[in-house]
Amino acid sequence: MTSDGNRIGVVGSGLMAVGIAEVVARSGMHAVLRARSDESASVARSQLEKGLARQVEKGKLEAVERDAIVSRVSTCTDLSALADCDIVIETVVEDLATKQQLFRELDAIVAASAILATNTSTLPVVEMARVTNRPDQVCGIHFFNPAQVLPLVEVVRPITASDDTIARAARFVSAIGKDGVHVLDRAGFIVNALLFPYLNNAIRMLEDGTASMEDIDTAMKGGCNFPMGPFALLDLVGLDTSLSILETLHASFADENFAPRPKLRELVAAGRLGRKTKAGFYVY
Ligand code: CAA
Repeated sequence: MTSDGNRIGVVGSGLMAVGIAEVVARSGMHAVLRARSDESASVARSQLEKGLARQVEKGKLEAVERDAIVSRVSTCTDLSALADCDIVIETVVEDLATKQQLFRELDAIVAASAILATNTSTLPVVEMARVTNRPDQVCGIHFFNPAQVLPLVEVVRPITASDDTIARAARFVSAIGKDGVHVLDRAGFIVNALLFPYLNNAIRMLEDGTASMEDIDTAMKGGCNFPMGPFALLDLVGLDTSLSILETLHASFADENFAPRPKLRELVAAGRLGRKTKAGFYVY
């Protein structure tokens, strides 16, 4: 538990929202997941239950623990259900105007003492802070996919955030059992700023015909002990998400390593977005 209490709002119903809600509930806190419709709320709940059922089947989780975790996640469609949350983390679409509108609404609804956080990968956190009346209480709390498994969380500090907000966010991250790192509000933070030039250059290598996709993946797994190769990872992250991250990084740093490769654009245009559409670089 944190001194911030134990009620955490999660806005969104995608993979990241479900993963974050699970992590929060596993640590004994209560997660309130807000989806836009009853239908998406029930899909999110069934994703949560499916993931936990897999852990029970594998003998990694007791059925009674699973039930306790599920009971600590509530879903809603009305933002007002987040009013008494101590921290609200948004995981909605990576579109600044959408996020700013959401921050305006959250600012009007959620307790004045609460932290409003974003899970954005690349958008400037300060742009969300500045549309609220509590810019000192807005920061980034950035999880990695799959959030249930990966230990890292980046605590992102916009220029507007107070020391107290960053300290509270870091305490929350440690209370949910994650490893927090501190980073300033610059595009890509730590991980994506270093990861995406590598992923993009893997696509360039494929386009050049230097090696096959399978051999590049095998090489980076066997030669660097990475858990997955760059093409498997791009498919996991999602090719649309990867394209948008690269575009933001390229706009920020004007570095050719970030300029999205044509093959990536081509696959996105064809609707091959990775694992979520059952086809990306690979077919699933
Ligand atoms: N939900 C819950 N648990 C999951 C899971 C999920 N979606 N996916 C895998 N797991 C669990 C498995 O159940 C298993 O746990 P147990 O050993 O307790 O059973 C464990 O993770 C390992 O899974 P698997 O044995 O099935 O497969 P694996 O060993 O290949 O691991 C992986 C899968 C965890 C995804 C691993 O390949 C990995 O870590 N890959 C790298 C992922 C990565 O780099 N992510 C960062 C992407 S960048 C990002 O997220 C930032 C951004 O802003 C876009």
